[in-house]
Amino acid sequence: MTTSSSATDASTAEAFRVVANPNPATEAERAEKLSSLKFGVNFTDHMARMTWSMDEGWTDRRIEPYAPLQLDPASSVLHYASEIFEGLKAYKWADGTIRTFRPQANAERFQRSAWRMALPELPTEDFMASIRALVELEKDWVPTIPESSLYLRPFLIGTDVFLGLRQPMTVDYLLIASPSGPYFSGGVKPVSIWVEQEYHRAGPGGTGAAKCGGNYASSLRPQIEAGKRGYDQVLYLDAKTDTVLEELGGMNVFVVMKDGTVVTPVLTGNLLEGVTRASIIQLLEDDHLKVVERDITIKELRDGVASGDVAEVFACGTAAVVTPIGKMGSTDFEQQVGDGQPGPVTLKVRQTLTDIQYGRAEDTYGWMETIC
Ligand code: COI
Repeated sequence: MTTSSSATDASTAEAFRVVANPNPATEAERAEKLSSLKFGVNFTDHMARMTWSMDEGWTDRRIEPYAPLQLDPASSVLHYASEIFEGLKAYKWADGTIRTFRPQANAERFQRSAWRMALPELPTEDFMASIRALVELEKDWVPTIPESSLYLRPFLIGTDVFLGLRQPMTVDYLLIASPSGPYFSGGVKPVSIWVEQEYHRAGPGGTGAAKCGGNYASSLRPQIEAGKRGYDQVLYLDAKTDTVLEELGGMNVFVVMKDGTVVTPVLTGNLLEGVTRASIIQLLEDDHLKVVERDITIKELRDGVASGDVAEVFACGTAAVVTPIGKMGSTDFEQQVGDGQPGPVTLKVRQTLTDIQYGRAEDTYGWMETIC
């Protein structure tokens, strides 16, 4: 993992021409937005954009005013969900620098998602260059209040004007930026999870590992039903046997055993290869905990919670960081995890990770990429 930009990154970054927003937020408007932050509600003045066509490849690197998109109603994204996205954050450190966390890992996953969804793969240099160009321009939008960041949302959409079902011949890449507070408000508060026994998120050979909008859209009905039952989030089981834990839809899951072993579902191709997940595995191992990536059945989890062999359960993701799970339930059970409060392993790994991200601890892994 590199900690500084390569020559290729820098030269491509220069290729992003800037079309300045004629009506950017005033300093007072920006200060007001940055003083009370929610997740994903406000956006900066500009967005990065590139266009791809089957004939010309990637062209027209630009930064343009943040604005509604003009799309032909026949565009493939609107009919066949030709779309993928990423999520990463830029942090303002106490020394005034702005850094992102493992952006190359997002760039690589973006390429894998693109391949699965028959969209063009964006070169890592362009992904990085778009981030550099936009974040440098919008540096005053990076918030400084605790637990805040500039959430970056790169995405690809099929703009092919054709109602036949085919690989899009034209695509747009966009990068928008949202000064954001925590995904879950109220500090490190445990969430409750509904173990879904009716709906599945992904099946073997499906799109579970791709970060495509369709996976998230199909999670909304189960989420609504779980909400009606009083639960905050949904935990999905595998579609083949209905017994093995997969993920929460927007987050990966970890189970901490009483003996200190930490278990997380193995990457089967059905679940998202979380950047936060991979980072947490590394941090736990370096903290001398044994981490095992394997199948975990819901029976094993329920029995372990009941006997006390399972001490903690937590979820993680870029937006949600590390979120403790305090309660689990489904049609046939309801259980509190431990004492229902965040456990020590959960809290420690959260602190270690966020200390690196916010520059409060040394970045011994070279995970942080300096933008400016
Ligand atoms: C993220 O964690 O960045 C995601 O993309 C998940 C989304 C539900 C906010």
